[in-house]
Parts: sequence; structure tokens; C-alpha cells
Amino acid sequence: MTPVDVAVIGLGRVGLPLAISFADRGLSVLGIDIDGDRLASVRDGVMPFAEPGAQDALDRVHAAGRLAVSDVVADAARAENIVITLGTPSFSHIEIDITDIRSALDDLLGHLRDGHAIVLRSTIAPGTTEFVAGYLAKHRGFVIGEEIFVAHAPERIAAGRFFEEIGTLPCIVGGVGQASGERVGSLFEIFGAPIVRTSPVQAELAKIWTNILRYANFALPNLLMMDCEQHGANVFDVIELINRDYPRGGIAMPGLTGGTCLRKDFAFSEERSNAPGMLLAVSRVNESVPLFLVEGMKRRLGSLNGQCIAVLGLTFKGNTDDERDSLAHKLVRMLERELADVVVHDPRVASPTASFEEAVSGAAAIVVAANHDEFAGPERLREIAVLAGGDALIVDPWNSFGSAQVFGYVTELSAMSNGKVALP
Ligand SMILES: NC(=O)c1ccc[n+]([C@@H]2O[C@H](COP(=O)([O-])OP(=O)(O)OC[C@H]3O[C@@H](n4cnc5c(N)ncnc54)[C@H](O)[C@@H]3O)[C@@H](O)[C@H]2O)c1
Repeated sequence: MTPVDVAVIGLGRVGLPLAISFADRGLSVLGIDIDGDRLASVRDGVMPFAEPGAQDALDRVHAAGRLAVSDVVADAARAENIVITLGTPSFSHIEIDITDIRSALDDLLGHLRDGHAIVLRSTIAPGTTEFVAGYLAKHRGFVIGEEIFVAHAPERIAAGRFFEEIGTLPCIVGGVGQASGERVGSLFEIFGAPIVRTSPVQAELAKIWTNILRYANFALPNLLMMDCEQHGANVFDVIELINRDYPRGGIAMPGLTGGTCLRKDFAFSEERSNAPGMLLAVSRVNESVPLFLVEGMKRRLGSLNGQCIAVLGLTFKGNTDDERDSLAHKLVRMLERELADVVVHDPRVASPTASFEEAVSGAAAIVVAANHDEFAGPERLREIAVLAGGDALIVDPWNSFGSAQVFGYVTELSAMSNGKVALP
């Protein structure tokens, strides 16, 4: 079998941009996945999901013939460097699910040889890198750090920023033994970002706590949003009061905080927590936002049974096509359980949705569930005023329209916009 420089196992939102980036730096890369449609798309040189800059880079590596694909995990042994970018969900037992990683290791076991480096790029619970090293030592008798090398090099890039950040974001490398760290550090040096060497468990903790910090950081304004509703206060005014000219940090803005990473990575700490429940409470706050919005609509509109509700945006955050673990879906489910007639519009997702006009025309309420650029600004609000009328309720926890009201009627928002939103 022809050798390649790097194999990337799992061509998902993390693995595919990474495989393309290695190839774009001149390495020969083998991408491995079990999803035949995904492999066919990559083979044809077409990105299967949106990631700014990825299609141009794929065009280049496709033309250069530097990215091959396979559906056989054992083929990864053609490369000296094997990077694992498989999904690591959380069981409902509050415990990491490493089924995919174990399955890939089992497929690889009989094919590993001296000189191989195994890089765990997936997000993992503390202790998982040592588990993988122990697994390889137990089943093949390798001396880790001498015969083969194992390290955790967590992906910390946010979706939508991959090609912007791969060359700048410090790359944390936690090697099992010094030689593993050196070997994997030298692989990632190709991107030009600083390499920060540490132990495996510190790398694991640094990654999951990067996401825990973000998750908790968003739970605070979300809780404040609910408190403000209880007290008849405006959350955006309170946030402005907190943050204005205050030199010691600032509070973030509210929103529907979900997504595949934030919703499960906290569980990798919670599974053996020193403060059991603390991060679960953070999760509960963020998970409560859809219900809070539904209850807020009911307080203003009465029963939602038979009322037409437009939901704008299905993704877990703005300007992405990623719907995984999006709270917009939870919001839609909860509205449907109120027997509302829900019409969804999202111009970015692969799932079929109604047009903006179809969703908004005659709607009793319009909810901005994902803050895409398409939903921003007074012009969009003016179109809603035309299509839905002045009595329509706008629900905008992201403050996409800039009117600084989580719940506001089109007439009110129009009056507050100083004529920028003329009513029909
Ligand atoms: N998505 C992000 O923005 C992001 C950011 C940082 C870290 N992470 C972490 O990176 C890891 C991967 O996340 P993702 O979003 O890319 O996941 P993903 O689900 O998009 O990708 C996983 C890929 O692996 C493939 N796969 C599953 N089992 C396989 C097997 N046995 N052999 C080969 N391929 C297999 C799937 O078909 C899929 O294409 C996770 O640990 C995640 O927490 C994700």
C-alpha cells in the first residue's frame, strides 16, 4: 500500500477541514469515514457542509491529488501519523461515549507498527488519552512513547472559523511521554500556530474547560433574561448598565445556547465532579430558554393553540448550517406541543424549510431562533411589519433586530426605531 503522511479518521466538521488543511500544506492525506455519501462528496471535490474557506481549499487539494479517501479504518495504518477526529457524544448517564474511538482502535490494532503516532483530536474526558495508551500497550504490548506515540491535541476552533484560526490558535499537545509530545507537536507545527506542550490530562481539561467556560458564560445572561421577565425589567438595559465602562470583564448577551459541543462537553467534567450538579445547573439554565420563550409568548398571546408562529433559524448559532443539538428544534417541538401552527424558515440549512414570506405572512409571533445575518437589522423588521402586521409579536432573544426587546410587538418596536421601521 502506498504510504501517506497523515490519516484522518472521521471526516466530520472537525476532521474534514483538518484533513484538507494538512493536504493544503503539502502533505499527502488519507481521509477515512464510514459515511459513503460523505466520502463520495469529498472524492468529487464538493464540501458536504458549509465552512468558510473550505471549498476553495478542497478545490486546491483535489486538483493536486493530495487528499484520498477510504471507508476502511485499517487503511489509516498507511500513514505514520493517525489523527482521530471521531464524535464523542455523552451518554444520558452523564458519561463520555467513546464507542467510535474504541471501534476505530479495534480496527487499527492489528495494523499498528513501530513509528506510528496516534493523535486524539476529538474532545475527550480526563483520562481518555491514558486509556488509549494503556489499551494499545495491553493489546499489542507497545511501549508508548518509544515504539509508538500517543497524544491528545484537542480541536478548539469554533465552527465557521476553522481556516481563520488553524494558523493562529495555540495548539495544545498532551503527549504520553516526552517523545509523543515532540512527535505530535512537530506534526502540527506545519500550521504555524504556537505549539503548547503539556501532559495528556491537562490537555483534556484545558479543552473541556474552554467549552465549560463558554457554556457557563452564556448561562448567566440567559438566567438574567428570565429574571428580568420576572421583575418586568429589560435584560438588554440591565446588561448595558453592567457593562458600561466597567473595567472588570463583562456579561455576554442572551440567546439559545446549544450545539453539539457545549451541550455535552460539560458532562465530561460532571461525570466525576467535585461539585456534582453545578454544571448540570448551567445546562438546565441554557436548556430552559426555549420553554421560557414559549411561556413568554403564552403570557402575551394567550393559548397558542391554532396560532401561526414563524420560527426563523434552525441552527445552534448564527451563520452556520449545523443543526445538531440546536435549541431551535427544541423550541419548535415545544411550540408544537402547545398545538401552535409552526412554520420554519432557514436559508442556510440542508433541511427543507418554508420561504421567509411563507413563514412570516399572517404570523401571530415571529421568533428569531438563530441569529443569522439574514435576520438582522431594521429592514428585516420592516418586512415583517408588512407581512405579519403591527399586532405580531417579535421574539428576539439575540437582539438580532437591534430593538433591544426579547418580546415586543411590531408597533412598539416600530415606534422605538425612530422611523427606521415604517408600518404598512
Ligand atoms: N464540531 C465542532 O465545532 C467541534 C469543535 C471542537 C471539537 N469537536 C470535537 O471533535 C470531535 C468530532 O466532532 P465533529 O463535529 O467533527 O463530529 P462529526 O459527527 O461531524 O464527525 C464524525 C465523523 O466520523 C464518522 N464516523 C463515525 N464512526 C466512524 C468510524 N467507526 N470510522 C470512521 N468514521 C466514523 C462519521 O460518519 C462522521 O463523519 C468530537 O469529539 C467533538 O466534540 C467538535
